[in-house]
Amino acid sequence: MPMSVHPMQGPNRLKLGIFSANADGGLTLTRAPERWRAAWPDVVTVAQMADRAGLEFFLPIARWRGFGGATNAREWSFETLTEAAALAAHTQNIALFATVHVPMVHPVFAAKALATIDHASNGRAGLNIVCGWNPEEFACFGLELIEDRYGQGLEWFDILTRICTADTPFDFAGQYYNLRGVCGLPHPVQRPRPVTLNAGFSPPGRAFAARAADYLFTTFIEIDAGREQIADMEARAAAEGRAVGVYTTCHVVCRPTQAEAERYYEHYAVEMEDTAGADHYMGNKQKFSGSHDPEAYRLHRKRFVGGAGTYPLIGTPEAIAAELQRISAAGFAGVALSFVNFKNEMPYFLTEVLPRLQGMGLRV
Ligand SMILES: Cc1cc2nc3c(=O)[nH]c(=O)nc-3n(C[C@H](O)[C@H](O)[C@H](O)COP(=O)(O)O)c2cc1C
Repeated sequence: MPMSVHPMQGPNRLKLGIFSANADGGLTLTRAPERWRAAWPDVVTVAQMADRAGLEFFLPIARWRGFGGATNAREWSFETLTEAAALAAHTQNIALFATVHVPMVHPVFAAKALATIDHASNGRAGLNIVCGWNPEEFACFGLELIEDRYGQGLEWFDILTRICTADTPFDFAGQYYNLRGVCGLPHPVQRPRPVTLNAGFSPPGRAFAARAADYLFTTFIEIDAGREQIADMEARAAAEGRAVGVYTTCHVVCRPTQAEAERYYEHYAVEMEDTAGADHYMGNKQKFSGSHDPEAYRLHRKRFVGGAGTYPLIGTPEAIAAELQRISAAGFAGVALSFVNFKNEMPYFLTEVLPRLQGMGLRV
């Protein structure tokens, strides 16, 4: 029997997931020796930990190159469609996302791979569409970054969704794809297609999400600014006659005292920063992506080293639960969490923060 409710549509007001555990360093650019190495058995362990704790989703990052420096973070990363299929056999309830680069992965292939994950997981597959930003990764495929990334993305998504429902082969004539006799069985378990996120920040990214995603997956600098982004996303979706929720992502250091949490944050994200890796990453990301508010690069180097420019949740279980409550009150539907070392750090977070969120009525 397929799952009756996809985890992303379950009862919790604030959905939680794990982000980037498939990649060396997770979201960090730190030389701290305990940093995440993403050994396969450890990836399985944290996926199972998240699953048992009732988290809603497991979301990988899509990377094809590292960021140089002392650690060359993320060069070691598991491909996300095959990872999700493998994790289907190791987990019971959690949604398993694949993060798929539009220009690198053909939509006919992506549709079949996604349907495979959906069957293997009994309807728990998820698609996170990324249109890409990193020219070094595009070059690995012999591709160049194009201006109209989202135009290609819309054609890609149209083809994929049609494959998910088409009963007879169809032709597609677009600007980026010219295909004949396209078909694909089995259709996914989820109807009409697996739950879909789009990772982006810029206005064109939001315009794309308004047409092609169930949820925008985005960043923010301050919670109040996040509120405005959500209002903008809602207006864009409404103009398309759709509703699109907004997920975000945060990096976490949770400790019994605030001082301990801040000390460790300073240690791994400042004293032990991978300086050349961070310079490379921040320089290219600022130049080629619109993933963050431009102010973020000037103000928040620590956040880029600590968690790829995401919002920090640093403190006691009480303080972190209170921040998550503010994030939920701002209108975010869910948060993808990352840790320096997922396996070591998640047990304390899960044991101490989840019950507090239940007490606040954010999770059942
Ligand atoms: C929260 C978030 C997660 C992202 N994850 C990835 C990723 O895994 N791989 C990738 O190449 N790009 C990733 N991106 C980059 C986006 O796919 C997009 O290419 C980038 O944000 C530039 O588009 P934009 O200007 O519309 O934001 C992410 C962006 C955001 C905001």
